Amino acid sequence: KKEKYELLNEKNALAEKGGGEKRIASQHKKGKLTARERIDLLLDKGSFEEIGKFVEHRATDFGLDKEVYLGDGVVTGYGTVNGRLIYVYSQDFTVFGGSLSETHAEKICKLMDLAMKNGAPIIGLNDSGGARIQEGVVSLGGYADIFYRNTRASGMIPQISAIMGPCAGGAVYSPAITDFIFMVENTSYMFVTGPNVVKTVTQEDVTSEELGGASTHSTKSGVTHFASPNEVQCLKDIKKLLSYIPQNCEDKPSAYDYDATEELRPALDHIIPDNPNQPYDMREVINNLVDGDSFFEVHKNFADNIIVGFARLGGKSIGIVGNQPASLAGVLDIDASNKGARFVRFCDCFNIPLLVLEDVPGFLPGTDQEWNGIITNGAKLLYAFSEATVPRITVITRKAYGGAYDVMNSKHIGADMNYAWPMAEIAVMGAKGAAEIIFRKEIAAADDPEAKLQEKIDEYTAKFANPYNAARRGYVDEVIEPHDTRKKLIRAFGMLENKVDTLPKKKHGNIPL
Ligand code: COA
Repeated sequence: KKEKYELLNEKNALAEKGGGEKRIASQHKKGKLTARERIDLLLDKGSFEEIGKFVEHRATDFGLDKEVYLGDGVVTGYGTVNGRLIYVYSQDFTVFGGSLSETHAEKICKLMDLAMKNGAPIIGLNDSGGARIQEGVVSLGGYADIFYRNTRASGMIPQISAIMGPCAGGAVYSPAITDFIFMVENTSYMFVTGPNVVKTVTQEDVTSEELGGASTHSTKSGVTHFASPNEVQCLKDIKKLLSYIPQNCEDKPSAYDYDATEELRPALDHIIPDNPNQPYDMREVINNLVDGDSFFEVHKNFADNIIVGFARLGGKSIGIVGNQPASLAGVLDIDASNKGARFVRFCDCFNIPLLVLEDVPGFLPGTDQEWNGIITNGAKLLYAFSEATVPRITVITRKAYGGAYDVMNSKHIGADMNYAWPMAEIAVMGAKGAAEIIFRKEIAAADDPEAKLQEKIDEYTAKFANPYNAARRGYVDEVIEPHDTRKKLIRAFGMLENKVDTLPKKKHGNIPL
């Protein structure tokens, strides 16, 4: 009997050693943690329960039968983060470079099935050289089994991917389908084809970091939502994200104890400049509206003409979408529309109410935008808001012009409450452009066209550069002073707490992709 216990202990120790001391040392030397160290940092202390620790690969080609590691390059199991159930898999680069074999994939799929049946988030910590080359097509099949489950689980349970090493070729498509990607600066990269293939096909010289490092994907492509300076911070950021989101699509995000006194925020009265063409930072508005320092920005360095992120208002989780007048005057363009749409859809999947802070002069003009499909892409944001059934509130802080007014969570597309600040200008376009078009002939015929133009601008401004035409028609529910906004929002979200709204019965919509 004693030997049986010894055998078990030996196997446990062997599995925990992964690819061995030398490879662990080399992993540490690269500034990376091991698969198990990452899980320890992510989960509540002592909460991890491993599944499939003794799984071995079944391959025999290329001498693989003589090289077997317990667990086969991925540590899978469940545990808790701040007391909440979480499923996690963590690829072990010390075992065949974390490459994905048939059995490695089976372990991940088993975990995904459990996560879906039990309604809890799944977190994948990726660090892998891709498909296990010696296994051939079964490894590709393994990837597809994962992608299929990622898609099935989408919108049902939150799925989070952290990239903590290589993630190349087909491997990128699992993270791509998940809700959020985190990357670690300088030690992770993601690309469909690496620098060597790029060089052969396009003659471009590019490093892995330039092609698919965290800074590239957090700024240029928007593939990653977060870039963290190191792995420890990355795991902390994941935990922070989890605090705003519920366990599954039928759950609500947890409310935190907060003295939700409907306090006034006088600082809000001084943010909007007197000159309507002067920029200001919408983050200042956000930080002055929400609880303490609860704003957690998503996609911070990508498409910074729009701001998206989570925050708490009176202890409750909300998603915020705000135009950013400090970047490109806050116009909507292709990237901003995509960024906003994806965020809105996430919040809607997981019952997170939406707050929209609107100051938008319109869509970005130009051939670049038109030829790359601002029509289709802008429509995504419109569609995402229109189909969202969570409580939705808009505050128009300043400009709400043209089609962008409709898109940015207007009443017409289902927003529950719309407020405007007294400085709001809700119109088809800016006064100068409007005057030049509708009074063109009159201006041209005038003795002093300059003066006539100014007169017409003033006339248009007086008529339309205000929130009262919209308020008269009920497109704006109330014009409020900025310092009252927090109080109004806490009350209105409270009023909408049990909102029930359903989409017409259908298989699924056809968002313009
Ligand atoms: N299949 C099987 N084994 C793999 C592997 C894969 N896809 N990728 C890496 N490994 C193994 C290596 O053989 C090496 O084994 P060893 O420790 O026994 O020597 C170990 O993992 C570490 O790889 P190494 O190349 O030494 O690490 P690195 O940090 O220098 O480079 C990569 C990492 C990912 C860039 C490199 O391993 C690589 O290019 N792998 C192949 C990527 C690929 O084309 N995958 C298939 C397409 S999806």
